[in-house]
Amino acid sequence: MTTSIDDRDLFLQERQKEICHLGQDTTLHQLTSEWFNQATRHRYSYHFDWLGLPIIQYPQDIIAIQEIIWKTKPNIIIETGIARGGSLIFNASMLHLLNNKGRVIGIDIDIRAHNREAIEKHPLSERIHLIQGSSIESDTLLQIKHLIQPTDKVMVILDSNHTYEHVLTELMLYSPLVTQSCYLIVLDTVIKMMDDSHFVDRPWDNRHNNPHTAVDTFLQKNNRFIIDYETQNKLLITVAPNGYLKCIL
Ligand SMILES: C[S@@+](CC[C@H](N)C(=O)[O-])C[C@H]1O[C@@H](n2cnc3c(N)ncnc32)[C@H](O)[C@@H]1O
Repeated sequence: MTTSIDDRDLFLQERQKEICHLGQDTTLHQLTSEWFNQATRHRYSYHFDWLGLPIIQYPQDIIAIQEIIWKTKPNIIIETGIARGGSLIFNASMLHLLNNKGRVIGIDIDIRAHNREAIEKHPLSERIHLIQGSSIESDTLLQIKHLIQPTDKVMVILDSNHTYEHVLTELMLYSPLVTQSCYLIVLDTVIKMMDDSHFVDRPWDNRHNNPHTAVDTFLQKNNRFIIDYETQNKLLITVAPNGYLKCIL
């Protein structure tokens, strides 16, 4: 019989040190930014599925959200911006693995018939509640609030309209729903670090009008959330720099 030394703590300590160094590696950050701009020309984030449905995310962020869900164990995940449904299926699959009775609430201003059909016939659809409407409309918020109980553990992911005004309004409306120790994730803050040429046909830009600036404004006045730097430092390739917000109060 062989005996082995339990090195799990040591492994975690080393990992944390390495992640810290990664976060300080300016050369790697620059290369990442260059890579990002080049990959976006090929619509990189549009090329993946989760359990059969297109998920418009970078694989790195999917891994990070998996870690966060597993660690924080929400039973309600609210996501604004559904598109083709893959991210809702991803969230639902995580809740399924947590083995709780959790549900995903997905909001989109335009749920196309074929996307709704694909989501509704997916094996995980029982866990998903779809709401069609703007994420910042009072009626949408009312519907969401009816689906949440005071004992629920709520996590929120914002991935709809990426303008400053819209994201800031979403942050104001959705942040009070997030439960202490759970996450509020603001996607596409990376727009601020990218070439503006990617957004010529979009209502946002890399100067002020983007989710990153909305997070900056939000955090100036809100002390319930802190930026989880460790997540972005280890990912490097992420659409959410400064967008992984942990609820601490
Ligand atoms: C980036 S996609 C979402 C991608 C999806 N979360 C995923 O990971 O596959 C953005 C979506 O936001 C929706 N959207 C745009 N404006 C919105 C609004 N005001 N309220 C809710 N959804 C909106 C669009 O219709 C689009 O489907």
